[in-house]
Amino acid sequence: MSNSKSPETLGRIENLRQKFFKLYGHHPEGIWRAPGRVNLIGEHTDYNLGYVLPFAIDKNALVAIRRISEREPEAKQLNLASTYGHSDIPEITRVAVDQLAPGAVTGWAAYPAAVAWALNQLDNVEISGFELLVDSDVPVGSGLSSSHALEVSTIVALNDLYELGLSPTRMAQLTQQAENDFVGAPTGIMDQSASLMSKAQNALFLDCRSMQAQTVPLPLAQNDAVVLVIDTRVEHSHVDGGYAARRQSCEEASEILQVSSLREIETVAQLEAIEDPIVRRRAKHIVTENQRVLDTVKVLKVGDLQAVGKLLYQSHVSMRDDYEISCEELDVAVEASLEAGAIGARMTGGGFGGSSIALVKREQIEAVSRAVRMAFDQAGYKEPNIFTVIADEGAGRA
Ligand code: GLA
Repeated sequence: MSNSKSPETLGRIENLRQKFFKLYGHHPEGIWRAPGRVNLIGEHTDYNLGYVLPFAIDKNALVAIRRISEREPEAKQLNLASTYGHSDIPEITRVAVDQLAPGAVTGWAAYPAAVAWALNQLDNVEISGFELLVDSDVPVGSGLSSSHALEVSTIVALNDLYELGLSPTRMAQLTQQAENDFVGAPTGIMDQSASLMSKAQNALFLDCRSMQAQTVPLPLAQNDAVVLVIDTRVEHSHVDGGYAARRQSCEEASEILQVSSLREIETVAQLEAIEDPIVRRRAKHIVTENQRVLDTVKVLKVGDLQAVGKLLYQSHVSMRDDYEISCEELDVAVEASLEAGAIGARMTGGGFGGSSIALVKREQIEAVSRAVRMAFDQAGYKEPNIFTVIADEGAGRA
C-alpha cells in the first residue's frame, strides 16, 4: 500500500497548506510529493553507466507551490522556505530568477533553486517567480536521498504547473544536471530515477546506459520479510571528498582500459591491465557490483530471499574492501544485523556514513534492532535511528 494517502501524509498535507497560507498569505496551487529511496543493490554503478536496483520509500518531501503572477512585485523572484527548523514561521530565502547561477544559493534552498535554473536552461521554458514551502520527513544526511526528494518534488510540481510535458527520464536527467552543475555534487542518476519512476511493492531495475527501467516485484510480504533501515546518524555529503575521488578513479580506469565507461568491462580478468592496485580495486567493485545487480534481479524473480541476502552481504564486503566507502558504524550495523539473524545486510547509498539496510523476517525486527543498538552502545557510537520501510510509489501530485 502506498503511503501517499496514509492518514499521516494527509495530516502533513493539510498542515502544509495552512502553513503556506500563514507564511505567504495565499493558497498554494497544489502540493506534490517525492519519496526518498533505499538502494537494494548496485552502488556507485550509476555514473559508470551500469545497473542499479533501488526502490522509493514511504518517507517523502512534500512541496507546496504558487506561481507569483506578473502583476505582483515579486513576479521574478523565488521565495523558498521549509519546515525543517522548528520555528513556527519558516525563514524565506529570496532569490531573483535572473540571478540564479551555480554557487549563488547554498544550503537546502540550493536544491529547488537548482531545478528552476536547470529548467530555464531549456529552450522554450521560462520559469518565473514562485513561492515554495517544503516539508520533508526523509532524514537529512542519512543516505536516503533527502536532497533528491527535494529536487524531484520541485521538478514534478513545475512540470505540472507550467505544463512542460517532461518524461520521468528527462526529469531525472534535468535534476541530475541541477545537482551536478548548480549544487556542485558530482552524483549519478539513480536517486532521482528511483524517486520519479518507482512503483509500490517493486524495486526499479535501471540500466543507466540506456535508461531503460523495469519494475521487479519485491517478494517481501509473502516471505514475511521487511527491509529495515539503520541510520547510523553519521552524516555524509557528496559535494566534496570521497565520492568525487571514487568517480575519478573510475574515469581513470576507463581511460587505461580505453572504454567509454566501466560498464563495458565484463570480467575482473580484464582489469589486470590496470597497474595501480587502488584503481584496480575500485574498478573491480564496479564490475562485480554490476553482476550482483543482475544476479539479484534473477533471484528476486524466483523469490529466493536467502540468495538475495547473500548478494547484499557480498556487495557490502566489496564496498568495504574494494571501493572503501564504508565506515566503522556501517560495518558494525551490518555485522550486528547478520549475527542477530538478518537474511542479508549492506550499507546503502553513497557511503562514508548514512544508512545500512537489513533484510529481516518480521519476527526478527526486534532482535535485530536490539542487537544493533547494543553494538552501537558498546562501541560508544550515537544511538542509531532504526525503522522499517515500504517500497512506495514514485513522485506525483499529493
Ligand atoms: C549517491 C548518488 C547516486 C549514487 C549513489 C551510490 O546516492 O546520489 O547517484 O552514485 O550515491 O550508488
